[in-house]
Amino acid sequence: MRRILIAYFSLQNHTLKVAEKIKEICRGDMFEIATDVEYPLVDFNFLAHVAQKQLENKTYPKLRQTLSIEKMREYDTILLGFPIWWEDLPRAVCTFLKMYDFSDKVIVPFFTHLGSSFGGKSIQTIKEMVPQNKLAEEFVFSIHDEDIEKSDDKIGQWLKSISEKY
Ligand SMILES: Cc1cc2nc3c(=O)[nH]c(=O)nc-3n(C[C@H](O)[C@H](O)[C@H](O)COP(=O)(O)O)c2cc1C
Repeated sequence: MRRILIAYFSLQNHTLKVAEKIKEICRGDMFEIATDVEYPLVDFNFLAHVAQKQLENKTYPKLRQTLSIEKMREYDTILLGFPIWWEDLPRAVCTFLKMYDFSDKVIVPFFTHLGSSFGGKSIQTIKEMVPQNKLAEEFVFSIHDEDIEKSDDKIGQWLKSISEKY
């Protein structure tokens, strides 16, 4: 792995914690995928409703910040982090995927969850949005919220196995 971007979406900080652990080991650059309009974090039912509607309508929520196309050209490997929402990707991640050309990169997803350990439809959604063979499906990393604290070794092994191939 040469030039690494750790791009992550995280509303409740679980995915952020994993991204930070990754950064400690592989020293990639971090980029937060965050929406311009904030999600209603205080009211979980409302948040769940908003997230579900965005999925149903396949919306592309506007992002608060973006990486320039030139900056994105600097990276070979994108470690793409997100939580599973309604058995799928938070739509903000789709906005991110739609913005760039990944044809000279490899995308390695990692996700946090509360039971959907296979990530529901999320990997298929990524596959449909990026060029063929750019998704390193064999390296998808899944972690339950409760296991994050003690995941350093697992993350280290995961990064090592990726670096042996890319
Ligand atoms: C709107 C919403 C939908 C969710 N849907 C699922 C789900 O379908 N399956 C699952 O295992 N966890 C689900 N979760 C739990 C999150 O995936 C999990 O808590 C994750 O670690 C949150 O990541 P974050 O703290 O980085 O935002 C959902 C959480 C939210 C807020």
